[in-house]
Amino acid sequence: MSRSTPIYAAMRSIGAYVPPKILSNADLEKMVDTTDEWIVKRTGIRERHIADKDVATSDLAVEAARDAIARAGLEHEEIDLVLCATVTPDYFNMPSTACVISDKLGIRNVQAFDISAACSGFVYGLSIAKAFIESGMKRNVLLIGAEKFSSIVDYTDRSTCILFGDGAGAAVISATEDRDEGIIDIHASADGSYADFLMTPAPGSVHPASCEVIEQGLQYVKMKGNETFKLAVKTLTKDVKEILEKNSIPAEKIDHFVPHQANYRIIKAVGDALKMREDQTVLTVGKYGNTSAASIPMAINDIYEEGRLHYGDLMLLDTFGGGLTWASALLPFAGRN
Ligand code: UT7
Repeated sequence: MSRSTPIYAAMRSIGAYVPPKILSNADLEKMVDTTDEWIVKRTGIRERHIADKDVATSDLAVEAARDAIARAGLEHEEIDLVLCATVTPDYFNMPSTACVISDKLGIRNVQAFDISAACSGFVYGLSIAKAFIESGMKRNVLLIGAEKFSSIVDYTDRSTCILFGDGAGAAVISATEDRDEGIIDIHASADGSYADFLMTPAPGSVHPASCEVIEQGLQYVKMKGNETFKLAVKTLTKDVKEILEKNSIPAEKIDHFVPHQANYRIIKAVGDALKMREDQTVLTVGKYGNTSAASIPMAINDIYEEGRLHYGDLMLLDTFGGGLTWASALLPFAGRN
């Protein structure tokens, strides 16, 4: 590939992993004051998967990454950048989970780092992979979204514990000269003035680990659910309309609308505003709950494994999460079945 030839970034493959153990709504009924009916009506969630105590986020990630690398037809040594989007890293400070994953996969001496953008992490990561590839700095990026979200959930707080699950998704993003295979566009934004809508207050430099932190439960995720819900619908509808208009792509041309799987009602409201048909919209929230940075690649993997995702299919991704952060992306799938 000569220096003057434009290079594009193509999603060559997808993979995902969910831990086997299921936490159902019936299980949650025994733990907090809630009902299956309330959870299904307000969120669309029926069950979520929870990793065992001795399983780390990197363990989930490695399973997803192995599939993604194999499906891209690559050897592990051909990966030259490892990115892991997560808010439940193996270790809060260092090493990064991307470093741990690289080691477990035997990928040595390549750049590896984590992305902290909560539920938007995978699409943020896509924009980073695109920039590295289009600048010619990297050729094969392993992009992972992985969460052991159960590690930061307070299972006595009914307003959050019903929502989240564990899992991982991974994609290989590779350089291509074929413009038709390349990621078309990515929007990624943030507004830190809404930081307290969705946060884990500790541990960190504001509240280092201490007995008080544990006593007050500051290590758990806190969410202003209803406020976040309303802002998510408003922001995503605007953002997704803008990316479609900017690229002159009408909603009916989208083969797969893959939204972040936080709440069925958010997905439905944004989908309705775009006049998205049901068969265009990918829905996995019912069986996985909200898996944060893993939710979008897990959803893409679902349609891949069902045989519904084909080379050249046009995908629209959208996501919203802690920060607050949000992002949308337009891209063809450039992998083979
Ligand atoms: O992924 C990152 C972004 N996250 C999101 O986008 C999530 C956004 N938020 C949501 O999905 C929804 O706001 C929730 C599912 C978290 C809550 O649904 P809601 O319709 O916004 O309910 P609410 O928070 O306004 O609460 C309504 C009522 C309250 O009772 P009162 O005050 O009306 O008596 C809550 O205490 O529902 C109660 N409630 C519950 N009741 C039964 C809250 N959680 C539960 C529960 N079971 N698990």
